This record gives sequence, structure tokens and C-alpha cells, in this order.
Amino acid sequence: MPKVKISALGCYVPPRVLTNKDLERMVDTSSEWIMERTGICERHIAAPEMATSDMGTEAARVALAARGISGAELDAILVCTVTPDMLFPATACLIQDHLGAHRAWGFDLIAACSSFLYGLTTGAALIAAGTHRKVLVVGADTMSRIIDYTDRATCILFGDGAGAMLLEPTGEADDSAGFIDFIGEIDGSGGDFLKMPAGGSRLPASAETVEKRLHFVHQQGQQVFKYAVKKMYEMCSEVLDRNGLKPSDVGVLIPHQANRRIITGACERMGLKPEQVLINIDRYGNTTSATLPLATRDAIAQGRLKKGDLVMFAAVGAGYTAGASLWRWAY
Ligand code: UT7
Repeated sequence: MPKVKISALGCYVPPRVLTNKDLERMVDTSSEWIMERTGICERHIAAPEMATSDMGTEAARVALAARGISGAELDAILVCTVTPDMLFPATACLIQDHLGAHRAWGFDLIAACSSFLYGLTTGAALIAAGTHRKVLVVGADTMSRIIDYTDRATCILFGDGAGAMLLEPTGEADDSAGFIDFIGEIDGSGGDFLKMPAGGSRLPASAETVEKRLHFVHQQGQQVFKYAVKKMYEMCSEVLDRNGLKPSDVGVLIPHQANRRIITGACERMGLKPEQVLINIDRYGNTTSATLPLATRDAIAQGRLKKGDLVMFAAVGAGYTAGASLWRWAY
């Protein structure tokens, strides 16, 4: 079976910044409360004319340019999102068209904040099967379209953004590089704690669902928080254990960015040192499917992720969904 590597990365964040001070003028909150309880200072918000496929396409173009290939060379495009342009057609089809990826097939994958982690694993399986040579995994979310900016418990948390990673077989020369292992878990008994209640087949859009604000994110924050700390710790520990690795072997942990305290709580329990963990939630907030590529980009830019390093991705999200994966960085 071919081994799989991440061969290129691209990201996009919209230019408009929404600061904590801006939010102070919109809801009853304070910059200090947001910083202390979440670690977030600011987040980016897409312009009204920009949708998820537009941000995803921008990120994809950066990844393709970094690898020096065109969209026409892609075999598949997987788009991870909870905010597709429309319920259907799939946002993957829209991005495929924008990129001129005429040979590619693809689909959208919804697993909330774990979407990108699951997309990366699914894409890796396509390469490992030997049937695909270039799979693009795009994580893009326009969370600002489903956030209630009168609800102080949720509107402070989320931002917009996109990222893309290209997956390819490793060459014979760099056989040690690439995908090592993945562990995942879903638990639907947690489905009520974080959801967008209306707009699907259970509660189709109606004047009543709009009036009751059911097309926005509804969250029981403390429930999600407790689950997230526990599961992030468990998933990371388990994937390390079963590969005979210790936390000290990790070059960098790239965790989903939902709340700084979730990350530090899980990492302290694991015994990871702060310098082993990438946190950039201060600048982007929770961008849902885009947090892992955005954090990976920052890890590379800060010189904290280099060829040969052991990188662990971890995520927990609505559903519940959770998982962790291990890679040896390839470039
Ligand atoms: O990827 C998964 C996505 N979601 C998450 O991971 C979210 C996980 N949960 C969290 O991050 C945290 O639970 C929150 C940041 C959402 C909330 O923080 P918390 O420390 O759990 O606060 P809390 O819900 O226990 O609320 C404490 C107090 C409450 O006031 P009272 O009842 O004690 O008077 C809230 O009304 O803080 C109040 N509060 C706020 N105060 C100022 C809630 N939101 C705000 C706010 N500004 N924005």
C-alpha cells in the first residue's frame, strides 16, 4: 500500500477583523471576559458576497500554487464544512468548477469541528488504496452566517476562514514521512448540546423557525467544554499509546481551536509542554473546519513544524465527534 503525505498547504482568511471591543458594542460582554474564558482576541468575518466555496477556492489555489500544479491534476476534492453554500449541490462541486479540476470527483463531509480531521483521514485512505494520486482536502466555514450576534455565549467564539491540504503518495526516498495512524469516535448522545436546530428535514425552514432563531448555532457551552477536554486528552493519549509513542515524542500538537482552556486543560493532563502545542485561537477564534490548516500554517511559519517532525492533529466537535491522528511531516 502506498504511504500518504501532506505535500502542500494553503489558507485563506477574509480581511475584515471583528475584535472583542467590537463585540462589546454588540452584546453585553467585555474584552477581558472573552480573553480570560476563551483566549480569543479577534476573528475574521467574510464580506457579504463571499460564501464558503469562495474562501475554499482561495485556500485551494494557494495549496496548488505551492505544489506548482493545476486543478486539472486533482483526482478528488473533499470539502469539510458545516456551512456549505447550499445544502446541495455539494460545495465540493462548486470548488471543483472554480479550480477547473475536470478530472476530479468529490463530496462534502460534515462532522462539525472534527470535519477536517476526518477529511484528512478519508483522503489519506483514497491515496493508500492506490486508486488516487492527488487528493485535495478543503476545510472552509463561514460561521458568521449561522451565528446569532445577539447571543453573547456563542457570538464571541466563532470566525470565518478556509484551509486546504494536498495529499499524495510519498516517494520511495521519503518512506518514513507521512501518515502514521488515526483514531476516531462519534457519540450521538451528545447531539443536543451543540447544533443548528432548523433548516434540515426535521425542522424545515419556516417563518416560525426564523422567528425562534433556530437557524443559528445553539450550544450548551459547559457540557461541550467538559466533553472536549476529556476527549481531546483520551484521543491523543490512545493514538500515541498504540504506536508506542510518548507525549515527549510529539514535535507539535495541532489541536482544534475552540477555547484556549480546552487545549491547555487537555495538554496539561497529557504532560505536553506549551512549546509543543500550537495555539492561534487569539487571532481567528473557532473557524470550525479551518482551524487545523490555519494552525498548521502558523506552526510552519513559526519554525515549529519541520520535515521529519512528529505532528499530532486532534479535534472534538458537535455530534459529538472526536479524533486524533499522527503524521511524520514531509516537507
Ligand atoms: O468545537 C466545539 C465548539 N464549542 C466549544 O468548544 C465551546 C465549549 N464551551 C466553552 O468554550 C465555554 O463553555 C464558553 C466560552 C462558551 C462559556 O464559558 P464558561 O466559562 O463555560 O461560562 P458559563 O457558560 O459557565 O457562564 C458563566 C457566566 C454566566 O453568567 P451567570 O449565569 O454566572 O451570571 C453567563 O451568562 O458567564 C456569562 N457569560 C458571559 N459573560 C460575559 C456567557 N457568555 C458571556 C460573555 N460575556 N460573552
